[in-house]
Amino acid sequence: MPRVGIIGCGRISDLHVLGYRGRADAEIVALCDLSIPHIEAKAAEWGLGAVDCFDDHRALCTSGRVDLVEIIVPHHLHSEVAGFAIECDLHVSLQKPLALNLDDADRLVELAARSERTARLYENFLFYPPVLKAAELIGQGLIGEPLAVRLKSNSGYSPEAWAIPWPAMQWRLDPATCGGGPLTFDDGHHKFALAWLMLGQPAEIHAWIGATDVMGAVLDSPSIISMRYDGGAVGSLEAVYSPELLIRGTSHYAQDDRIEVTGTRGVIWVNRGHGQIGEEAPVVSYADGHTVTHDCESGWEHSFMGATRSLLDDLAAGAPPTLTFAEGRDVLAAALAAQRSATAGAAVAVEAPIGRVHSAVRSSLPSPDPGTSSDPSRPRQGGSP
Ligand SMILES: NC(=O)c1ccc[n+]([C@@H]2O[C@H](COP(=O)([O-])OP(=O)(O)OC[C@H]3O[C@@H](n4cnc5c(N)ncnc54)[C@H](O)[C@@H]3O)[C@@H](O)[C@H]2O)c1
Repeated sequence: MPRVGIIGCGRISDLHVLGYRGRADAEIVALCDLSIPHIEAKAAEWGLGAVDCFDDHRALCTSGRVDLVEIIVPHHLHSEVAGFAIECDLHVSLQKPLALNLDDADRLVELAARSERTARLYENFLFYPPVLKAAELIGQGLIGEPLAVRLKSNSGYSPEAWAIPWPAMQWRLDPATCGGGPLTFDDGHHKFALAWLMLGQPAEIHAWIGATDVMGAVLDSPSIISMRYDGGAVGSLEAVYSPELLIRGTSHYAQDDRIEVTGTRGVIWVNRGHGQIGEEAPVVSYADGHTVTHDCESGWEHSFMGATRSLLDDLAAGAPPTLTFAEGRDVLAAALAAQRSATAGAAVAVEAPIGRVHSAVRSSLPSPDPGTSSDPSRPRQGGSP
């Protein structure tokens, strides 16, 4: 049974702990953050009982108290903390993005490939039940062969959204610590991962990234990013902040997301993400003249519960995780290409993928029914496409 240590007990860690509840096969035994009183408060809030508290990730990793670490720290620390944990022979689950640049990403991919333990990039959007439902329907051939994906992120305001502590905003608004814009790089990672799930790695990206002053900070909105795939498929991501847009149905961020995938014989829509704009069912498909609504769990927290359960199931089965570090490197390459394109004012080529191809991933993701294991036949970490 893995003994789990959480490194970084900030805003999003509240959703990470949900997936451990009710699991007899893993236990959170240690927490790490910069302040011990903050950690103790979190342990009490999460009802963890007695846990070891560390204010240095190296002390936690070398303590002999944990088998698996969940790393949930600001982006500029990902490479160093994850690299150290792998070298300590621990299983690692690292929140996205893998790193701030491809050199650091490649170093982590190499370390992971040499390790006997699991190294997993945490991308909860791939476990959001409406996304799993859409991927399942696409995998069954409902819309034919996918030809295009459209992703839309709307951010606005919401009295229902949770508070975001200022320090959690501060590192995000600085490209040196975030790696890019909050909407197109930080949150954008999720959208590039979704596009990767549907169509694989784009060959070329052309991005227009906006700059809006929000209370003295620069937000990368409105932005549009176009993707072209080998074989002719296309994709787009549009990220827009609308200061007066009321977002309902969220107890997390004041944001909503939608996905539309068009295939050779039909279209599928995922109509929800963080929150809810409009009243549509979470998933709607249209094929052969028939519109069908598909109901499934749609609370955003379920994406986190599914992501954690998938990791524990894969560990128990000795199966490779979703995402492997190699796949995380591919998603990062697309996100970085968008930043590069916007700066250059021209389309740029995206590095060739080193992880698995999307079709293999699509058929091996769990069904939207929580608790279903991934397919253990998938290749190990760092496997070839
Ligand atoms: N999957 C999602 O939807 C989602 C949403 C939000 C955040 N995230 C990711 O989660 C990570 C954290 O984001 P957040 O919003 O929780 O940020 P945050 O700033 O609220 O939390 C980060 C925590 O790390 C702690 N920390 C900083 N340096 C540390 C160190 N050296 N050792 C130990 N702890 C340290 C901070 O004190 C803070 O408590 C980022 O990778 C972010 O991209 C993902």
